Amino acid sequence: MSAPNKDYDPVEVSSLDSEAVESATTAALAAFVAANDLDELKLARIAHTGDRSPLALANREIGALPPAAKAQAGQRVGKARGLVKQALAAREADLEQERDARVLREERVDVTLAAGQTRVGARHPLTTISERLSDVFVAMGYEVAEGPEIEAEWFNFDALNIAADHPARTMQDTFFVEPAEAGVVLRTHTSPVQIRALLSRELPVYVVCPGRVFRTDELDATHTPVFHQIEGLAVDEGITMADLKGTLDHLAASVFGEGLVTRLRPSYFPFTEPSAELDLQCFACRGESVTNPDRPCRTCGSEGWIEWGGCGMVNPRVLEACGVDSEKYSGFAFGMGLERTLMFRHDITDMRDMVEGDIRFTRAFGLEG
Ligand code: PHE
Repeated sequence: MSAPNKDYDPVEVSSLDSEAVESATTAALAAFVAANDLDELKLARIAHTGDRSPLALANREIGALPPAAKAQAGQRVGKARGLVKQALAAREADLEQERDARVLREERVDVTLAAGQTRVGARHPLTTISERLSDVFVAMGYEVAEGPEIEAEWFNFDALNIAADHPARTMQDTFFVEPAEAGVVLRTHTSPVQIRALLSRELPVYVVCPGRVFRTDELDATHTPVFHQIEGLAVDEGITMADLKGTLDHLAASVFGEGLVTRLRPSYFPFTEPSAELDLQCFACRGESVTNPDRPCRTCGSEGWIEWGGCGMVNPRVLEACGVDSEKYSGFAFGMGLERTLMFRHDITDMRDMVEGDIRFTRAFGLEG
């Protein structure tokens, strides 16, 4: 390492001569003034006060000067740096103030402006009717059970005693999922949930199963290929058809009005024996139109009854298919369409209104719980 050069003349070190220091200072001050915002000022700060700025370099040169020269050069550079620092601070304060004022101006919130209108949504009436019906059963101790909409043929047909040559299995009613040999369908009714409930639950079983079902029907005023059913199943010791009738009457009265009853007409379903069509007493005329020709009823066509669904005593073959001892246990089952139920209850004449999703239809039902 060489000894300090005592004869070093600061005037000869170009970065330390007063002209250089002065021009570096002027350049710095000009750059600060020229900076239009804090970002630009940051660049100017790095350029004119950073480690590689002319004044910083000059400052570093001082150390190499002979002691005699140090004081003078130090004073010159120190003063210049002080000046630059002050100018920087002043410009920074100005620009910060400008920015704050701008932010306040640009981000101003007009608290007197009217708020945007948010419409309150309403649940679809099919959801509400489904819950309304389920609730009647939940109150009697039933559980709500669900099953898949894409179902194995075995659950949808075989286990329900619907033989392979039964008309319900033909291509006309059922949507088959490809490939057809896979034996998978879109369920055509909620009855497969009966099977699933019996296979997965301990006896006794009391379940209601609301859900979406599918049939190859054209969409018109009274049909839709996608619709909803609610299924009920009770399997216990000593269940009789009187229990079925009492339960259905209770449902009718709960949903359509006190005292309203149901009627069972002999029918056939493979999975119930005996089976019955389920009619609802007309809630509009309560049967009066049948005997009073002066007051015809639009709702039931003066029949006094409206077709509502199907029901019966669970066929022992179905119980056995689910491993239930049909000597010891018996049960009833019923199923009805939710769209139809909703149509009766709210005097809806076109089923398409329920599937089109027009909120004017849904909103008319309000926020009914
Ligand atoms: N699953 C039958 C249908 O869709 C209705 C039904 C359910 C009948 C339960 C009897 C018992 O038509």
